[in-house]
Amino acid sequence: MDKKQRKIVIVGDGSVGSSFAFSLVQNCALDELVIVDLVKQHAEGDVKDLEDVAAFTNATNVHTGEYADAHDADIVVITAGVPRKPGESRLDLVNRNTKILESIVKPVVASGFNGCFVISSNPVDILTSMTQRLSGFPRNRVIGTGTSLDTARLRVALAQKLNVSTDAVDAAVLGEHGDTSLVNFDEIKIAYQPLNTVTTVDDQFKADIEQAVRGKGGKIIEQKGATFYGVAISLMQICRAILNDESTELIISAPLAGEYGIHDLYLGSPAIINHNGVEKVIEAELSDDERGRMQHFASKMLNMMNVAS
Ligand code: LAC
Repeated sequence: MDKKQRKIVIVGDGSVGSSFAFSLVQNCALDELVIVDLVKQHAEGDVKDLEDVAAFTNATNVHTGEYADAHDADIVVITAGVPRKPGESRLDLVNRNTKILESIVKPVVASGFNGCFVISSNPVDILTSMTQRLSGFPRNRVIGTGTSLDTARLRVALAQKLNVSTDAVDAAVLGEHGDTSLVNFDEIKIAYQPLNTVTTVDDQFKADIEQAVRGKGGKIIEQKGATFYGVAISLMQICRAILNDESTELIISAPLAGEYGIHDLYLGSPAIINHNGVEKVIEAELSDDERGRMQHFASKMLNMMNVAS
């Protein structure tokens, strides 16, 4: 029997799609990478550029394609959508990007695609939830990048403030990838020690760290027009965990079915990722206040989603 081909289709070849492809061919063994974009010329150019990278690394077959190419893919990654402009929130994008999402998910499903969807388009938690609804796929086979990037930013902020390596920071951002994200400070460990044993965790400390995490994406957009490297590597990590059946723990936009008292919505949470997609959602420890805030924001997002759909 032929060895199963490892195939990923990327929909959306903007800065995020392109950076993701670059990260993928360097870090994940793959047989076939298909790039789908309305702007054919850019995708063709990216294919040529990536062929050169692939020759140095995994010799992946990279080509442009159509939604129909998804029929035998393991993963379809959706990065397409209108990005945020300076000053815009991620939630401002919901109506425009829902329409774009519909135009992608329907033909991908019609192709006979039977793998995992991985979404990074914003607002990512809502668009991931919509992808699951539109596709009718089992919840475990739809994943969003969620607060993986916020978690990276939190670890960087703490590492810089406490002068330790990011590896020493065990911390997570939960909930919305956006302005209502949540840091459960009580659970943070620095080199295995609770955060409050290595520094003073007062309101000012928390506010500074939360601001560093929430404001960073907007700051990058203000300075260079877009953010793409961080989310690109988060996408790569999720896809590699699926393809390699890693059963690794990652922070993602996960399908909540009662965790944190929330139903029918994808939100940032730790989860185990393997060839089944989301093998298991892990409910992180939250204080009553944090749990209440997460539920409050979740109900707002569910309302917004029902209006948009
Ligand atoms: C960011 C975008 C990807 O936070 O939402 O950088």
